[in-house]
Amino acid sequence: MAASGNGRWSARATLKVLWAVFSAFVVESVVFGFSVLPAAIFWEWHFRWRLPYHWMETVLLSMAFIPAYLLFAFCLMLFSALAMYVTGWRAPDGAEMPIHEPDWPLLNWVRYMISIHLVRTFAGAIFRTSPLWTMYMRWNGARMGRGVFVNSLWVTDHNLLEFGDHVIIGSEVHLSGHTVEKGVVKTARVRLGDHVTAGVSSIISIGVDAGPGCQIGALSLVPKYARLEAGGTYVGIPVHLVQKRPVPASANIEPTIGGVAQDDSSSPVR
Ligand SMILES: CC(C)(COP(=O)(O)OP(=O)(O)OC[C@H]1O[C@@H](n2cnc3c(N)ncnc32)[C@H](O)[C@@H]1OP(=O)(O)O)[C@@H](O)C(=O)NCCC(=O)NCCS
Repeated sequence: MAASGNGRWSARATLKVLWAVFSAFVVESVVFGFSVLPAAIFWEWHFRWRLPYHWMETVLLSMAFIPAYLLFAFCLMLFSALAMYVTGWRAPDGAEMPIHEPDWPLLNWVRYMISIHLVRTFAGAIFRTSPLWTMYMRWNGARMGRGVFVNSLWVTDHNLLEFGDHVIIGSEVHLSGHTVEKGVVKTARVRLGDHVTAGVSSIISIGVDAGPGCQIGALSLVPKYARLEAGGTYVGIPVHLVQKRPVPASANIEPTIGGVAQDDSSSPVR
């Protein structure tokens, strides 16, 4: 037990938390250092240019800002994902982690989330929806097919996500492999089959398995562990089926999470 009887963290738990914070600080400092370096070299190179008038040098430096920032943002995605791979900081699958008893699985998840948060703050605002943003999520542990576009900064726990081909995630969609309930962080995989589209501002909870060709309506809520039928259009809070269309011929129709066929009987959605 990490928590003492009066609900406060034990000395051991406090040390673990301090170490987690310190190590995250060190790793992120190194990641940012390596990410800024190419941009700094690029910028410094412009400082060396000698032009006939000083104002021309000032204009040149100003022009170099955007390419330098893009270079930094790209390197941040790359080095951040590399650091998470090397440290092994990930979201554990199928875990229940009480926040008042911080242990390593929870602290590893926190450090993974810190890294994702920093990348979305400094790079996500620029690269979201582009193939580079999808590439970052793959580098960071997600399994994503071809032609996947994610126009949201609120897609997290990448190593718990399995998307098929041609999945589209609308803006402001909240989709992650974790939820926090009654002080406990719970995690589970989320699977979206080929050609699934998540409408703007929808919420897709943990453990959801959406069959190929599913459409989730704008502003809709897909509850935990819901199984959505292939080709179905689901809307509302919580979602319900309103239409069913044929699944695109190119879609893989196997509804599985982690390669195991899903049992629909426990799904909260019909
Ligand atoms: C869900 C959606 C695809 C349905 O479009 P459609 O197939 O043309 O169907 P309709 O507009 O005829 O709607 C069917 C029913 O669902 C209801 N409905 C549609 N969208 C809804 C939503 N987001 N929430 C609640 N109900 C919704 C309609 O009112 C209609 O109900 P009714 O039959 O009682 O009149 C569409 O409304 C939608 O939400 N699209 C989101 C697109 C999006 O955000 N894409 C992301 C990338 S930009």
